This record gives sequence, C-alpha cells and structure tokens, in this order.
Amino acid sequence: MAESADPATPRASLHGQWSSRLAFVLAVAGSAVGLGNIWKFPYVAGQNGGGAFVLIYLLCVFGIGLPIMMAEILLGRRGRRNPITTMALLGREEAGSQRWALVGVIGMACGFLILSFYSVIAGWTLHYMVLAAQDTFAGADAAALGELFGGLVANPWILTGWHTLFMGITIFVVARGVEKGLERAVRIMVPALIAIMLALLGYSISFGGFAEGLDFLFRPDFDALTGSSVLAAMGQAFFSLSVGMGAVMAYGAYLPQEESIIKTSVAVVSADTAIALLAGIVIFPIVFANNLDPAEGPGLVFQTLPLALTKMPGGVFVGTAFFLLLAFAGLTSAISLMEPVVAWLMEGHAMRRGAAALLAGGTIWALGFLTVLSFNVLADLRFLRGTFFDNIDYLTSNIMLPAGGFLITIFAGWVMCSNSSADELDPEAGTVYGLWRVLTRYAAPVAVVLVFLNAIGVLG
Ligand code: PFF
Repeated sequence: MAESADPATPRASLHGQWSSRLAFVLAVAGSAVGLGNIWKFPYVAGQNGGGAFVLIYLLCVFGIGLPIMMAEILLGRRGRRNPITTMALLGREEAGSQRWALVGVIGMACGFLILSFYSVIAGWTLHYMVLAAQDTFAGADAAALGELFGGLVANPWILTGWHTLFMGITIFVVARGVEKGLERAVRIMVPALIAIMLALLGYSISFGGFAEGLDFLFRPDFDALTGSSVLAAMGQAFFSLSVGMGAVMAYGAYLPQEESIIKTSVAVVSADTAIALLAGIVIFPIVFANNLDPAEGPGLVFQTLPLALTKMPGGVFVGTAFFLLLAFAGLTSAISLMEPVVAWLMEGHAMRRGAAALLAGGTIWALGFLTVLSFNVLADLRFLRGTFFDNIDYLTSNIMLPAGGFLITIFAGWVMCSNSSADELDPEAGTVYGLWRVLTRYAAPVAVVLVFLNAIGVLG
C-alpha cells in the first residue's frame, strides 16, 4: 500500500475515528484510571515509605509521564496505524529506518505481560464485589479481613474462575470494537468512583488515624528513599498513566486531526493523579487507626476499605457498587492493554477483530496462571524480585514501560523533525510546545536514565 509521506495530507485511520473529543478523552482516561490508582498506588507508596515516594511520583507524572503521553498521542495520530506499524512508518519517514518498530514490539509484549496479572487482580475485585453484596464484612475486624483476603489468594481455583471471567469479558468487548457504550460507561463510572471514595473518606476520617495517614503520605522523609524506591515511583507513574507501551499511541490513531492533544493530556493526567492521591488519603488513615502495616503489599486495599464500608450506612450497597466500579475501571484499562495487539493482528495479518481478540486474549489468559499460582502453589518459588507475579510486575512497570517511554522521547524529541511535531501539537500553543520539546528532548530521557543508573547503584 502506498503511504503518504506528505504531512500536509494526514493519513486516515483504518478503524474509524472517535465520535468527539470527549469520546477520546474518556477512552484515554478509561485506560489511565484503573487498578493502578486504587489498588496499586497505595500499596506501592506504603512499601516505599510514603511522602518522599509520593513527591518523586508526582515529579515523574508531570515531568516525564505528561510529555510522553503527548508524544504518544501525536505519534499515534501521525501514523494512524497500530503502534508497531506506526513506528515503522514514522521511522522510515523521519529517519529512513523501520527499526523503530521495535518500540511497538516491546510495547506489545509489555501489554501481554501486564494484562496477564491485571486480569487476576481484577478478579479479586469481582470476588470482593460478591462478598460485599453478601454483607460478609459486617462486624469484621482487621484480623478477620486479613484472613479473608489470605483465604482468597490461597485458592487457585477461585482465582482462576474470576480471572477467566474477567478475560472473557475483556475479549468480548475488544472483539466488538471501539464501543459507544463504553464511552458512556466511563463517563458515569469515573465520577461515581470518585463520589464513593469521597464518601469513604468521611468514614476513614472517623477512625482517628487521619493526621497520621496524611503525614505518612505527604511529609517527605528522604532518609526512607532508596534508589529502588525512586525507580518504583517512576514505574508507578508510567503504569498509572498507561504510557510507555503504545496503549495511548493506539488510541491516538483514531483521534481526529483538529483535536487538541495538549488539553486532552493535561486533563487525563490531572484526573488520574487526583484519583490515586484520593485513594491514598482514604486508605492510610484506616491503616494507622487499625495498626495495620502500610507495607502490607497487594492486599492493602482489600484489607482496609471493608473496615470503612462496615461503618457506613448502606455499606452493603456502597461496597458492592465500589468493587463493581473498580472492576469496570479495570476493564477499560484492560481493553487498552489489548488494543495495540489486536490492531496489529488486524492490520498486519488480515485477521478479523473477533479472531484477533480471541487469540491475544487466550494467550494472555494462559500467561495469567503464573500470577494465579504466585499467591499459593508457587508462593515459595522465589527468584530475582520474588514470585512470578513480583517479577512480571517489576519487569513491566519498572523496566519495560520506562525503557519504552525513553525510546518514545528520543524519537519524538530528536529523530522526528520539529516541523512534524509542531504540526501535530497545537500550532498556536507556542510556549506549551516549547516546554513540551524541552521536556521531551532533555528532562524526560535524562531523568529516566538517571533513575535507572541510580537504581542499579551506579550513582553511588
Ligand atoms: N493505567 C492502568 C491503571 O492504572 O490501572 C494500567 C495500564 C493500562 C497500564 C494500560 C499500561 C497500559 F498500557
């Protein structure tokens, strides 16, 4: 197929376009807001000492993640293909080399790995939705909730059941294509999730650990900061914003030419960050008031929020709704994890959407067993960073996403000619463009390299 290399005649997308700017914002927000904000951010912050970690996280979100999100959208819209083909195409146009496709390949592998564990964790939230509906948390104290969670993850059959259901739903939705209903769902879901968290905040405050919780989350203790916690903060920023693997790039391919990339990115990044911080503000007071360990790990939210739910009137309904919404937030993220692969199978291998979704989803489902078993049968099998789950999580968040993001900054900032990038970002937004370019060329790539070197101890 002949490709147009003339920037004056932008390529058309192969799978249609978003119906409006709002639809695109909602899709990117749906990708960003997910388990990463409510399940992962609090427990990783807890494991890494709180305040100083949160500060570094915020610096990474706005100094590295935001410019990369803008870069991904602009590359996606310019290429108008799946991330692999887009990078090959733009690489050829801008640098005469298709090797840049590698960025898309790494990203796709990363999406496979992330979704393989993401689906298992989303299964936990479905299980907790049922527990909440059955009023299981009534009268439970922190110890009982700890046992409840321990009992769930000890059972590979239950985990497999929920993981299978969640992957099945994801495959079904992806197979049906970019769906109107989903846009509407995000529009209702994200505000509803925020509303419930604000209500939970009221009950979390009433436990009495509020000051301590805020102190933990926002007072930086730089002595607690190590090279690996700085890396964890950067990895969490990439994970939470869905950047570094081409998910946002794949969505950018369907963005109409006249829409503002800058406004979309700023809105999504701000909302994503606000929700993560809110989750932390709700959870840590409960942790301290109940003498729980902030470094508890992946079970943290499941062992804390039910304590607030039991206190509030209508807790059964609110709890059920909360875990349902959280699973939904996970679903909109899961879809974006699968979209790059599916787009690639369709465009490059002439597969139908349904077959592509089934093939990709089936493979990811099988890969998910490594995570299922990490919490029970294979819990004692530890290497490198810990269990299989620990290793997949570390490899994707802390290494693959930042490495992918680094390559994206190099391409968008150095390889791509400034006329092309200025052309895609709002031409009228002169100073914002200048700021983006400085961040993309210098600040972001240098920061990623320094954080890597620091984590392996090269900087002392
Ligand atoms: N950002 C999602 C979350 O916070 O739950 C997870 C995610 C989605 C990561 C898509 C990466 C991605 F490409």
